[in-house]
Amino acid sequence: MEVVWIDPDRCTLCGLCIPICVRRILEEREGAVAVTDPTQCILCGHCKAICPEDAPRLSSLNAKEFSPIPRREDLPQAEQLMALFRSRRSIRIFQNREVEKEKLEKIIQAARFAPTGGNRQPLHYVVLNSADRIEEIRTMAIKTLVGQAKKIESAIQGMRAGDEPVPLTYQLRQLYPPIWRQMADLDKQGIDRLFYHAPALIICHLNPLESVTPDMDPGLSAMQMILMAEALELGTCLCGFLVFALEESPELRKALQIPKDHRAPLSFMVGYPDVIFHRLVSRKPARVRWL
Ligand SMILES: Cc1cc2nc3c(=O)[nH]c(=O)nc-3n(C[C@H](O)[C@H](O)[C@H](O)COP(=O)(O)O)c2cc1C
Repeated sequence: MEVVWIDPDRCTLCGLCIPICVRRILEEREGAVAVTDPTQCILCGHCKAICPEDAPRLSSLNAKEFSPIPRREDLPQAEQLMALFRSRRSIRIFQNREVEKEKLEKIIQAARFAPTGGNRQPLHYVVLNSADRIEEIRTMAIKTLVGQAKKIESAIQGMRAGDEPVPLTYQLRQLYPPIWRQMADLDKQGIDRLFYHAPALIICHLNPLESVTPDMDPGLSAMQMILMAEALELGTCLCGFLVFALEESPELRKALQIPKDHRAPLSFMVGYPDVIFHRLVSRKPARVRWL
């Protein structure tokens, strides 16, 4: 079956799909809309979404998901969105309460609809929602970070002695060794400063060769997940430290079933917040130049 074709029994030749196709592969030909090169289709679905008659057929996509577009007034208003953005906080105190699987599934669904470069949709997710699994990963990650602390410190000492170049990542992470050692000490006392005792953890990974924008796609999907979590009355906290540990430890990636050729640039904790903020916060003024 063709990847994309226009059902001639439905098509009224209104022409709306032709200019909206990002790959310009639709054209009117002999009284029908033809797909000039189906191999160029990126399955963005714009042709089907714009067609009043639902004539485009995209065989690999779920036609049921092309449901009617919500009315503008049913979507969040600008003020509501801004209130959501501004009230989101990184949560570092969680209730001792599991997150319902349905809510975690909704969070992942939110990620599916984030834009990706060329609509490649290269992202994979690992969701951990069992205390044992999270503990296993935390233990491995903290061990890795303590190992990384030693490497950073000896590289810095080598640099000071003038006989060793320091990798840029180590230079940027110079501040962290004491934090990671303290994290390891606290961990022994049952205090989790890596995941903050969160009941769920989401890790996003991708094969960079399958993406045209591997530095952007994970962040965009993460923000949709994080905002969905907010809407579900959950809190989140990004975990850059787990990302550092994943870069360093093949064992950790294996434990999370992340393939060898994948990168895992993003992870965050999810749970019910056990903290009530009374105020929004301030940020630096935006540095904008209007041209
Ligand atoms: C890429 C990234 C990695 C982060 N990693 C951590 C982390 O490992 N641990 C942590 O407690 N917070 C982490 N944060 C949270 C930031 O510290 C937080 O977003 C920032 O202080 C602003 O606070 P807010 O999120 O409450 O607005 C991370 C944030 C980003 C964007």
